[in-house]
Amino acid sequence: MSDETSQVPARPADEGVTVLVVDDERSNVESLEKIFVREGLRVLVAYDAKHALEQVRTHRVHVLLTDLMMPGTTGLELLRAIKQVSPEVEVVLMTAFGSVEAAVSAMREGAYDFVEKPLKRMTIVKSVRKAAERGRLVAENRSLKDEIKLLTRREIVGSSAALRHVLDVAAQAAPSLATVLVLGESGTGKELLARHIHDKSARATGPFVAVNCAAIPETILESELFGHERGAFTGAVGKKEGRFARAAGGTLFLDEIGELSPQVQVKLLRVLQEGEYEPVGGDTVKADVRIVAATNRDLLAEVQAGRFREDLFYRLNVIAVTAPPLRARREDIPLLVDHFVGMYCKKNGKPRLDVHRAALERLMDYEWPGNVRELENVIERAVVLSRGASLTEHDLPEHIARAQAAPRALEFPIGTPLGEIELRVIKETLKHTKGDKSLAAQLLGISTRTIYRKLDGVAEDSVRPG
Ligand SMILES: Nc1ncnc2c1ncn2[C@@H]1O[C@H](COP(=O)(O)OP(=O)(O)OP(=O)(O)O)[C@@H](O)[C@H]1O
Ligand SMILES: [Mg+2]
Repeated sequence: MSDETSQVPARPADEGVTVLVVDDERSNVESLEKIFVREGLRVLVAYDAKHALEQVRTHRVHVLLTDLMMPGTTGLELLRAIKQVSPEVEVVLMTAFGSVEAAVSAMREGAYDFVEKPLKRMTIVKSVRKAAERGRLVAENRSLKDEIKLLTRREIVGSSAALRHVLDVAAQAAPSLATVLVLGESGTGKELLARHIHDKSARATGPFVAVNCAAIPETILESELFGHERGAFTGAVGKKEGRFARAAGGTLFLDEIGELSPQVQVKLLRVLQEGEYEPVGGDTVKADVRIVAATNRDLLAEVQAGRFREDLFYRLNVIAVTAPPLRARREDIPLLVDHFVGMYCKKNGKPRLDVHRAALERLMDYEWPGNVRELENVIERAVVLSRGASLTEHDLPEHIARAQAAPRALEFPIGTPLGEIELRVIKETLKHTKGDKSLAAQLLGISTRTIYRKLDGVAEDSVRPG
């Protein structure tokens, strides 16, 4: 260690706070060092900016206490450099009496506090402690934010061909500025897809602003979307920024677009055609948004019924992406179950539960009218209620635990040999009756013996060479 810097072993550093004292006046450094050591802080010292920077690079410093005026570098320059190297260090400046101006500009650059010389022990200790506390809070806040991000980060789970197709279309659409219309039943993941499109676009660093057109009263939707000037209507006490303005540089997600009133439809059409709009009672503004719209209604039927403008429909429907219902991609169910079990166990502070085979079978048999959202809710509930180390049928809602696999429609290409069709139907029926051959025979209107014979035929076939 150079003689310019030294680390003073502190009393047991109960709080683990390290303060770096920087001043060219050695006597000042020494007395501050004594004060902080007595307070139980760990102390590093430096007599110029260069060594101070070195200390910050090599040690975890919580608070930097620096003189504002030093030969060579000013405390202000040191502050800037430190904020570059290690933005989480809180800086407290020591200023000569009367140099408040400089201190104020330092505060603007991110210093936490300043104390005037001659220093008072109580004042300086209090300031350093408060700076350390603030640093701790900022760090804590950041880690909480990271955790929230982790919990709320929503990936699109699934590997079915249906979902992969949707993701392919979305990936192609994302980089362009084209308007995307996301279609699909309730709970299929339309909003998730919209966010995904935003995240994959050139506007990903811009805002993603979602508006649920059905949730906002018709009378205020226009001013919500486009904003209004002060006094534009009774009650408009101040100027208000609309969602279009808030989404500038990013993506505006218009959810439940099928619910728009004719008046708002006209205004939206204008934005899509001209790229500009007028806030209520205001002047024309350029729109800088990419629009992704979604609906669970049959928009074309709405057009035919005269409830939705045809021209607007075509403007929105530049690229259409349809989120498939969950029952059309049952093979994604195990992956989704796994994903949600992991997510909700973590959220509820439970060790990861495994899922009994029988429970998974029930989940796969169910029709899921509420799609992924319904599945997510069922899993959350099961995780919260479960007492054991695994999720069983008993943790599922009654109507799902008892769900009988609905007989599934089978499809065969024209020209499929009859024998093959017969066998598939028999096998699917047996799956449905959970292997009960006499029940399957009843359903198929044939004898149990016939079922045995047909299945035996398979066995014979499979051993026959060639
Ligand atoms: N493929 C998926 N992978 C993981 N989570 C999904 C998937 N699809 C949907 N979800 C989750 O299901 C829930 C419903 O999704 P989302 O809100 O996007 O559906 P929606 O189609 O907008 O529904 P609604 O029409 O009811 O508004 C969300 O919590 C979402 O994160
Ligand atoms: Mg939605």
